[in-house]
Amino acid sequence: MSTSTVAPNEAVVPESDVAVAVEGITKRFPGVVANHDVTFAVRRGTVHALVGENGAGKSTLMKILYGIQQPDEGTITVDGRRITPKNPADAIAAGVGMVFQHFMLADNLTVTENVVLGAEKLHGIGGAARAEIVRISDQYGLGVDPDALVADLGVGARQRVEILKVLYRGVKVLILDEPTAVLVPQEVDALFANLAELKREGLTVIFISHKLDEVLSVADAITVIRRGTTVTTIDDPSTIGSRQLAELMVGSELPTPQTEESTVTDREMLRIDGVSLAGGAEVGRDLLSDISLTIHAGEVVGIAGVEGNGQQELVEIAMGMREPTAGRVLLGETDVSDWGVREIREAGVGYIPADRHRQGMLLDAPLWENRMLGHQTQEPNGAHGMLRNRAARKDTERIVREYDVRTPGVDVTAGSLSGGNQQKLIIGREMSHDPVVLVASHPTRGVDVGAQAAIWDHLRAARREGLGVLLVSADLEELIGLSDTIHVILRGAITATFDADVVTSEDLGAAMTGAGTAAATDPTTTEAAR
Ligand SMILES: Nc1ncnc2c1ncn2[C@@H]1O[C@H](COP(=O)(O)OP(=O)(O)OP(=O)(O)O)[C@@H](O)[C@H]1O
Ligand SMILES: [Mg+2]
Repeated sequence: MSTSTVAPNEAVVPESDVAVAVEGITKRFPGVVANHDVTFAVRRGTVHALVGENGAGKSTLMKILYGIQQPDEGTITVDGRRITPKNPADAIAAGVGMVFQHFMLADNLTVTENVVLGAEKLHGIGGAARAEIVRISDQYGLGVDPDALVADLGVGARQRVEILKVLYRGVKVLILDEPTAVLVPQEVDALFANLAELKREGLTVIFISHKLDEVLSVADAITVIRRGTTVTTIDDPSTIGSRQLAELMVGSELPTPQTEESTVTDREMLRIDGVSLAGGAEVGRDLLSDISLTIHAGEVVGIAGVEGNGQQELVEIAMGMREPTAGRVLLGETDVSDWGVREIREAGVGYIPADRHRQGMLLDAPLWENRMLGHQTQEPNGAHGMLRNRAARKDTERIVREYDVRTPGVDVTAGSLSGGNQQKLIIGREMSHDPVVLVASHPTRGVDVGAQAAIWDHLRAARREGLGVLLVSADLEELIGLSDTIHVILRGAITATFDADVVTSEDLGAAMTGAGTAAATDPTTTEAAR
């Protein structure tokens, strides 16, 4: 090993230190160069972050490392050995594992069954496998219960199972593509503690995130990718701030976000009035109990909560996907409690779903067809029951421009867009029909900082025009920045209400986990305290 010659263009980090070296990687798709001459080195036992705008080429690069895609040019070296993975099994054999943002566990199986699936040769499927899972869980402080049913696990726990699943296969390099996008702050802290443990044991983590403060706090080194190319690698992140980092990503100075003033009127747009939703025998409690809130024209009402405390059910009730077992939903003056989703949408309620792959998009269909989804009967898509594809295509081009969707055109499939650009398309579509009410679940999940600021500006502009917004978000900064009022939901009930002008993320965090709710209720909002 020590006798090998080092070519002059090789990474500057001493070879023995390097876990992964990526050199000159280029990957082309029809109409797009996703990666162009990407070069960087990752030191062993570090957390190495990858940052860049939506569509910069981060996920493509990681899919190449993990064997899901093959590069047109360039080389990958792991522990000094050149690898050319043709599929994930090859990558895992070479010591590289990856956890995706969309989890791939089978709900109806236990943790052990999920972990062992496809790796039965390692430790069988019985007691030895279970013991190995317990050992790995203890070694890295993952706190995974080998006998739990995956269906019963929350988002953070599922993610730890996914991580354990790749560790079980003996990988030395772990790729995490936007792992924190789905986590609440407490879970992010727990994940970072796990990463520190992995580092201590000599593992290497490659980590992608759009939350730059988070990146600065956890990363030992940061590589910036812009339009498919590596811009720089920062070896000492303590020398840089999040704004500077964002400017490296964008390649120019960022605009300062516009200040906002309250636009709340007294016109009621959406009222949830004493709504409950029974949970069925296996749940053993109400999914929602006696929820009341009002959204006025020009008002953003935020919902904060740890995932799984009823926010999704609340959204589904507002959208007519579920009918409340008690209470009423009023749109303006009209009782819409028993309306279906199509009627609710036609009445002017826009919807940004939490899971864009399950609701909201057809990944195999072109962008312009996705433009029509859910709005087939509305202008400019359809008139008199006829779909007007030409108009839809043209309007999709407008959305692509206005919402800065990075795509070679409107005929490519939605599935070929980067995650953040898919999200921008959905937001553009929903805002295009001048909704009177917008129900938005994690609207900027996976969106880069620049695009997030632009989307906030779009939402604030619509709010000034009288839009009422129900905003569910795990991003507390977003909740505080956009909302007028924030309700905290815990075990299906509203347990605290805050004025967004004065609340801090710490206040919200404490209320979300059930600590210190006593002082939280703001006397100026009436319906929350009961
Ligand atoms: N399978 C594919 N077919 C065609 N184009 C693709 C495919 N996968 C990615 N692309 C394109 O490659 C570019 C890079 O996409 P990639 O998903 O790597 O971006 P990203 O940096 O991960 O962005 P985000 O932060 O939004 O997730 C984008 O222009 C995208 O549209
Ligand atoms: Mg991505």
